[in-house]
Amino acid sequence: MNSPGSPDSPDPIDRTRGQVFGGVAEMYDAARPGYPDTLVSAVLDYAALGDRPALEVGAGTGKATVPFATALRTPLVCVEPDARMAEVLRRNTAPHPHVRVEVSPFEDWQPGDIRFGLVLAATSWHWIDPNRRWDLAHRALAPGGALALFWNPMGVRDPGLHAALAEVDRRHGLTHTPHAVLASSYGDTPGHWPDMLGHWPALDCAQDDRFTDLRSLRFREEGYYGTDDYLAYLASLSMYVSLSADHRTRALTDTATVLDSHGAHIHVDRLHDLFLTRRH
Ligand SMILES: C[S@@+](CC[C@H](N)C(=O)[O-])C[C@H]1O[C@@H](n2cnc3c(N)ncnc32)[C@H](O)[C@@H]1O
Repeated sequence: MNSPGSPDSPDPIDRTRGQVFGGVAEMYDAARPGYPDTLVSAVLDYAALGDRPALEVGAGTGKATVPFATALRTPLVCVEPDARMAEVLRRNTAPHPHVRVEVSPFEDWQPGDIRFGLVLAATSWHWIDPNRRWDLAHRALAPGGALALFWNPMGVRDPGLHAALAEVDRRHGLTHTPHAVLASSYGDTPGHWPDMLGHWPALDCAQDDRFTDLRSLRFREEGYYGTDDYLAYLASLSMYVSLSADHRTRALTDTATVLDSHGAHIHVDRLHDLFLTRRH
């Protein structure tokens, strides 16, 4: 997947871009959106954890960890490879003593003899080695345990603004930016994620008989960003962090010019796309 927000077209992806977030950890924490309580409830209802622990993969600064930790009564182990992200994660989860942070890529992390009732990955599954991620999830899960994968794509409401931003992206060689999709292309049925089985990650896992009970849910809310907040959000994305400083400044400046000429804000549909499956 080339977009941080959409579960389409996962590979090929430049996985080195998944290692850039620590350089902007505080900015990431300030600018990135979180995940709604409705999504957390849907995951926990599906997982029916009982007294089993949960595992989070690529926890970052805790955007998903905090709402899950608030709802969970069992231990939540967070695996995050970047020490700078993990430092912010530890700070954000300090009020939740049942959260444990382990600094490691998921590929190198060992579950020991613990098997989890839930493995969750918020905007991170695409960064895990595509040749190993399903094996790693399977190994970490107890029989019947749930795997919850989710992302925050968005769509731009105003077609004129969408077209003008697309022109900036073309000029700067940027693809799959958060404003690359028009809100209307997502349809208008709340909770509905059409053709889930035709999309990644279901495509990977539907053929894997170690997993069953595939489900998908789409949560939707309205969002507004002023120019500065939207630029801060863009600057936290791997595709912008990975640009040279000069190129990033030019791309963001041109984006700001377009936003400012369209009322200095961007009105979006923010989606939270959730994919659920269960280990046999
Ligand atoms: C877009 S951030 C998502 C962070 C957080 N889950 C959130 O929703 O804000 C992706 C995270 O995945 C982590 N990551 C990248 N490669 C990883 C790997 N191989 N194993 C585990 N986490 C990884 C990054 O360090 C980063 O914190």
